[in-house]
Amino acid sequence: MIRPPADVGTPADQIDTPALVVDLDVYEKNLDRMAGHVRGRPVRLRPHAKTHKCPVVALHQIARGAVGVCCQKVSEAEAMVYGGVRNVLVTNEIVGAPKLARLAALARQAEVGVCVDDAANVRQLDAAAAAFGVRLPVLVEINVGANRCGVEPGESAVALAREVAAAGHLRFAGLQAYQGRAQHIYDLAKRREAIEAAIDRVRETVTALGRAGLPCETVTGAGTGTYQFEAASGVYTELQAGSYPFMDADYRRVEGLEFENSLFVVATVMSRPTVDRAVVDAGLKALSVDAGMPTVHGRPDLEFQRAADEHGVVLVRPGGAAVRLGDRLFLVPGHCDPTVNLYDWYVGIRGGRVEALWPITARGALL
Ligand SMILES: Cc1ncc(COP(=O)(O)O)c(C=O)c1O
Repeated sequence: MIRPPADVGTPADQIDTPALVVDLDVYEKNLDRMAGHVRGRPVRLRPHAKTHKCPVVALHQIARGAVGVCCQKVSEAEAMVYGGVRNVLVTNEIVGAPKLARLAALARQAEVGVCVDDAANVRQLDAAAAAFGVRLPVLVEINVGANRCGVEPGESAVALAREVAAAGHLRFAGLQAYQGRAQHIYDLAKRREAIEAAIDRVRETVTALGRAGLPCETVTGAGTGTYQFEAASGVYTELQAGSYPFMDADYRRVEGLEFENSLFVVATVMSRPTVDRAVVDAGLKALSVDAGMPTVHGRPDLEFQRAADEHGVVLVRPGGAAVRLGDRLFLVPGHCDPTVNLYDWYVGIRGGRVEALWPITARGALL
């Protein structure tokens, strides 16, 4: 881990760049909004930690009522538990002896759940849990339209749930049903339609499980783009939204979301070669561009056009405000999760000063 780009108390305009900066007022407002949405409803919030990769953020979410967090990787789950999180769901299939052993060992220290979509994997999980003397809560993942992992809803899910229930060191805990492809459908009505189709598949699977004597204590899924629909479904019991504390440029295009951008890559203008071109010190190694280029916060006169390894090329539109060497630009990343994964520290600012430095301890957690 390298040193942070600022100290607590540093004026915000002296943070070294490129830096991953969180506007703490906006961030807290986003956390409060989501907590308020869930309060008084028959759903719990279990935010996805793959976005922030930081136990400090997880603990802020839990302090506002979240039951725990989701992780995608065993190494992320380890970072969360070592950072003080007591309840983690790995929303993914875990395959291979080394990872299964780490997962089962972690379950001796905290409540750790996991997903399955294959009977052979159920047997491997059971053996790993037996070796560490734990009983793991296991969710059957169903494919509700994302066409990623998951068995088909209905009878395939029931058959796999039976395998889980029959395994001595596992406990059938319910369904994982995440419709990832719906999250970034910009149009609200089309997004709702995609989730309503998913909810129908979940409902028929819960009914089939009930008929088979396998009650579903948990149905978990949803992201920042669709959580309102799953929350109102009457069938989902947990929401896994991840991006809402920070948002990003792509999520801002999604109609009907109430969260604001709190996460920025702050970059410095390092070259001003022509009237219409400024170059900043943040390129591919400082920003993820898989969901499009960053936007320049508060500067409609500037367009981030392309990223090279260490350079970002910005178009200065005719008639725009001046851009000088050494100016700082607040870039809104196209996609928050993979951008966060590039940094060791969040630099939290409020009132023009650095107030917090949070280590991103699950950064690079791939195993
Ligand atoms: C299984 C799962 N749940 C929840 C999320 C969170 O989604 P979002 O960041 O869109 O809120 C993701 C994101 O990819 C995911 O893979």
